Amino acid sequence: MKNILILGSGGREYAIALHLLKDKFVDNLYFTPNNAGVARLGKILEYKTPQELIEKIQDLKIDFVIVGPEAYIVDGITDLLHIAGIKVFGPSKKAGMLEGSKAYMKDFVTRYNVPTARYIQTTDLKEAITFLKNLTPPYVLKADGLCAGKGVLILEDFNEAVRNLEEMLSGKAFGDSGKCVVIEEYLEGFELSVFAVCDGESFQVLPACQDHKRLLDNDEGPNTGGMGAYSPAPSCDTALMEKIKNKILKPTLDGLLKEGNPFCGILFAGIMVQEKNGELEPFLLEYNVRFGDPECEVLMPLLKTPLREICEHVFEKKLDSLKIEFYPKSAMAVVVASKDYPYKKSIPMPISFKDYDSTLGHIVFAGVDEIDGKLYATGGRVLLCVGIGENVLEARNNAYKLIESVYFEGMHYRKDIGYRVLNAIK
Ligand code: AMP
Ligand code: GLY
Repeated sequence: MKNILILGSGGREYAIALHLLKDKFVDNLYFTPNNAGVARLGKILEYKTPQELIEKIQDLKIDFVIVGPEAYIVDGITDLLHIAGIKVFGPSKKAGMLEGSKAYMKDFVTRYNVPTARYIQTTDLKEAITFLKNLTPPYVLKADGLCAGKGVLILEDFNEAVRNLEEMLSGKAFGDSGKCVVIEEYLEGFELSVFAVCDGESFQVLPACQDHKRLLDNDEGPNTGGMGAYSPAPSCDTALMEKIKNKILKPTLDGLLKEGNPFCGILFAGIMVQEKNGELEPFLLEYNVRFGDPECEVLMPLLKTPLREICEHVFEKKLDSLKIEFYPKSAMAVVVASKDYPYKKSIPMPISFKDYDSTLGHIVFAGVDEIDGKLYATGGRVLLCVGIGENVLEARNNAYKLIESVYFEGMHYRKDIGYRVLNAIK
């Protein structure tokens, strides 16, 4: 029987926990930090210093740790756990640089001939403007460091791009994270999220997902952390997945191993797919070193092989002896967001729930708090309604039916999650 600690307590971690709780070999689940959602599924572990975290993990006889958000990796907490002899499903800080620094990532993948957008990285405004002049709009500007998903700007107007570059490079826009920028050529196409489970030497891909990053229907409005996702994405056929594996993931993981930074955990490739001479070609947009959110919420209910068993195979570097299996179904998650998301924090609102038919799927708690015994919407992305079905259409219908069972003032959600695939099968 296993005791598992999940670092993080949002929707992604809630979804991981729902999956783990179905495993008869999982005894206790612990989470940190506190959140009213995950508090329903396990115990909360509070700590002030990394040393205190390590001591609590040892005292509670926690068998291993699953890392949710990238901050634990980039801040080096996972390295400290490794050093203390604690098993962690998540990469080292060095391997995590693929997400921690966009400039490092672009340099790294370019050295290994991974297809990606043409770019420069610079701290110099003059150099930035010279490169910008070589591009046609829209202009893609990225802050080098972590910016909680807000560090990418896509701008149509040259002068606006220059103005933003000035603000980034001076530290005004994103602090130190933006003092180095990556400027990229804009790639047209459709996006996929592809996840590889890696044990440092071998890897296996999970079914492709499609996220919807823009706030509004028809992919309008600002970028968000993701307003909904579904999996599997039929637009990723076997031939395309082979290209993603062979041209993008394998050279990256082999390169990391060669440079002494083997990657253990989840590598998440944000892919732009372009059609060239009738062939689909993948380009790497970004790497994340953890599960995506909301992608995790659609992968976890479809995952047949226990995640616990996957983690154990990764710790033993025996991933190649495990066949990771998925149920032959579809899942769709629709994010229900609070009134002012993603612009500013919203006023907490009480959430009311009606009973729902559990064969439709389930509701994931993300940005919620409990106040006087009642659940309040306190975060930006508050709930995810996860529909499960025999196909993507059924999953979608079920997800939207689930939304009818929740209400809070100001709630909003996209009505068109999955529109690309649904339009294609109409
Ligand atoms: P990133 O965090 O690098 O994935 O960027 C966030 C989002 O910006 C991506 O999901 C894309 O929608 C968009 N994006 C980033 N880079 C590019 C690019 N070179 N061309 C087109 N869109 C991009
Ligand atoms: N869904 C995108 C992310 O997790 O970064």
